[in-house]
Amino acid sequence: MVSLPHPIQYQGSKRKLTSDILNFLPSKVERFIEPFAGTAAVSIAVAYNDISQNFWLNDLNKPLIELLELIVEKPEEIINAYADIWNTQNIDSISHYLEVREKFNHTNDPTLFLYLLARCVKGSVRYNSDGLFNQSPDKRRKGTQPNKMRKNIEGVSALLKGKCKFTYLDYREVLAEAKSSDFVYIDPPYQGVCGDKDSRYFSGINFDDFVLAIEQLNQRGVAFAISYDGKRGNKTFGIPLPKELRLKKLEIEVGRSSQATLLGREEITVESLYLSPNLLVEKSTGIESYINKAPKQLTHLKKHGKFSAVAR
Ligand SMILES: C[S@@+](CC[C@H](N)C(=O)[O-])C[C@H]1O[C@@H](n2cnc3c(N)ncnc32)[C@H](O)[C@@H]1O
Repeated sequence: MVSLPHPIQYQGSKRKLTSDILNFLPSKVERFIEPFAGTAAVSIAVAYNDISQNFWLNDLNKPLIELLELIVEKPEEIINAYADIWNTQNIDSISHYLEVREKFNHTNDPTLFLYLLARCVKGSVRYNSDGLFNQSPDKRRKGTQPNKMRKNIEGVSALLKGKCKFTYLDYREVLAEAKSSDFVYIDPPYQGVCGDKDSRYFSGINFDDFVLAIEQLNQRGVAFAISYDGKRGNKTFGIPLPKELRLKKLEIEVGRSSQATLLGREEITVESLYLSPNLLVEKSTGIESYINKAPKQLTHLKKHGKFSAVAR
């Protein structure tokens, strides 16, 4: 499998799932929309596979979208800025990280954000109740080397330059604009992961609003796929999406939990992918027989090199 460029470390990134997801997309789409773009991992793969050459990347996190825009449109500027920040790390790189973090919290400068994401624990974005970035540095690593970062940024820019619209709107504003000639990949933050007390909400997203927005996509005949919930061992994340949405649910095995393995437990992580009803109509009957197989079958088919032949 080709290794695609990925400059941004981000918990929740779908970079390891892109080849699975792409198996269920149409072979060509006029415009590819990601209302919850994060690192745009799926759009990068879509551009690489020439499924679309027109993208709308949206994420409520403004510095993240500004960072993506810099990477795509002004690669040299962000490459040099990153190298400057990275090279000023000295022996006391922890204090350096904390200084950069403080500066970022004052300025929201996307170039500082790239360094923080490269250097923080598990690339996992955490904010305190005042909205300030408060994730700690990973003490064992210094963050991606500037020359490696350069390659990743140049790779993404080569694939996406001049082809994207960048916005930092609420996802509903984006979905409201989607047309039947678009394809929308929807990857909201999972309920349960953010530890919100009210189970009807996940990271500020109301479940009923989300269902309503999806229902409206169905009514307008827009094709889409949603990465929504998942399972680790016996633990399930996310409230199931209502049957009335007529979505087809696929389960993709993404691996074993390393922590559980350390504790001597066999815990498999599974991510769900929901396909819109009209997307299923477009696909051949092969997809139906594929979906009906047990989730484990997916990994099995891939291991035996039969995966893409079934779905595409
Ligand atoms: C699971 S991540 C997406 C990861 C992405 N697919 C990738 O591969 O990197 C979910 C994203 O939704 C964004 N988000 C949260 N609430 C949002 C909202 N109301 N509207 C738009 N984006 C939102 C978060 O900032 C986060 O980047």
